[in-house]
Amino acid sequence: MLELKHELKLGKTRDEKARMNFVSGLRAHVLNDLASGMRAVWESQGEPDFRRRTGRAPKDGPEVHKAIKPSEYFRFYSSLRVTAQDMVWQSVFPALDRGRDGLRKQAAALETRTGLGSLTLKPDLEVPRSVSAIDVHLMAGNYDGEYDEGDLTAGSLYDNGLAVFSFGLMGQNLDDIGQSIAGFIRAKYPQFKPKKILDLGCTIGHNTGPWKDHFPEAEVHGIDVAAPCLRYGHARAQAQGRDIHFHQMNAEALEFPDASFDVVFSSMFLHEVPRKGIEKILAEAHRVLKPGGLMIHMELPPNSQLSPYDAFYLDWDSAYNNEPFYKPFRDLKPADLCRHAGFKAAQYVQFVVPSVGWYGSEVLKEAASHQQDVDSDKTGRLTDGVLWYCFGAWK
Ligand SMILES: C[S@@+](CC[C@H](N)C(=O)[O-])C[C@H]1O[C@@H](n2cnc3c(N)ncnc32)[C@H](O)[C@@H]1O
Repeated sequence: MLELKHELKLGKTRDEKARMNFVSGLRAHVLNDLASGMRAVWESQGEPDFRRRTGRAPKDGPEVHKAIKPSEYFRFYSSLRVTAQDMVWQSVFPALDRGRDGLRKQAAALETRTGLGSLTLKPDLEVPRSVSAIDVHLMAGNYDGEYDEGDLTAGSLYDNGLAVFSFGLMGQNLDDIGQSIAGFIRAKYPQFKPKKILDLGCTIGHNTGPWKDHFPEAEVHGIDVAAPCLRYGHARAQAQGRDIHFHQMNAEALEFPDASFDVVFSSMFLHEVPRKGIEKILAEAHRVLKPGGLMIHMELPPNSQLSPYDAFYLDWDSAYNNEPFYKPFRDLKPADLCRHAGFKAAQYVQFVVPSVGWYGSEVLKEAASHQQDVDSDKTGRLTDGVLWYCFGAWK
């Protein structure tokens, strides 16, 4: 599962593969076993202690965070999780250092061989500081870091690192989110036949491609500000035989005409954007959607729909994983965001979509026939049995 299946995969030694397997297993242990243990300790000791001291239950995530911080279990969990996160990227670097030039050659060969899709870069695009000034989730160089002209390294680091990070939960092509959401929309709205689909903050296009699989007649576009990820994403789509159009563009100021798309999608994108940017992005999504089109964002579930413990648990990344916009985003109410962007309140939608890789396509189709609730234990978190939360609106 950790070995990428497309032609851009890096050559790895046995030691490197063993290290990646180890790190992946360590992450699974932390996020499944230690996370369950930490919850059990909270429920049996932490929360009763809190009630004894204050005469009430904690009211939100920050109160749980403050109360649990001194506990040894929490400190051990956090320390191991930060270490494992750092090791994710470290485990990819040696193969990437050796493979950098090869990657560029492979991308050039794919361009002449398949010529599928397109790549439009804009070298003078100003990359927002929320991308250029931080190494989000401890990823050295972030999405936009380049060693030299034409570099694809950041894309390969993300692709290989995500495989280690997600310990199989994202599927063979790391596209479980895209496959699940696009499959769900197709099953839920069989009459809906989008002709143009846009993915915002697409990175390497791993969740863009599934839209082409589910809606082969549609023209599919992905935009991102990070050139090295887009170069890699374009080559990756070609290696997978997918016809996708990638553009270097800021989602806050889309260079597409009004009413030009039937679907505007994003996944795991908005929680990495400051609030002002999110508002502009949703307004832009509204502008470029055709009447009758659908905006749909796969995201982390909002704090307002979670218990205080689960809010604390998901906001861990903001405090310890270099994700400064994560909690501020999760404190917002998705329905309010959509309304401010110009969507009618009655057109708001929210879904909890079972991972197709974990549950299979029959469960996904069944889920499309009725409303799912946010399940605090599983929704939006990388754990066995993951459920993907999404919200949006029809225009
Ligand atoms: C967490 S990644 C998204 C991952 C991907 N969509 C997925 O499904 O896993 C966030 C991406 O958003 C991009 N990004 C951040 N701000 C952006 C903006 N204002 N416009 C376009 N892309 C942006 C980053 O470069 C990065 O590639």
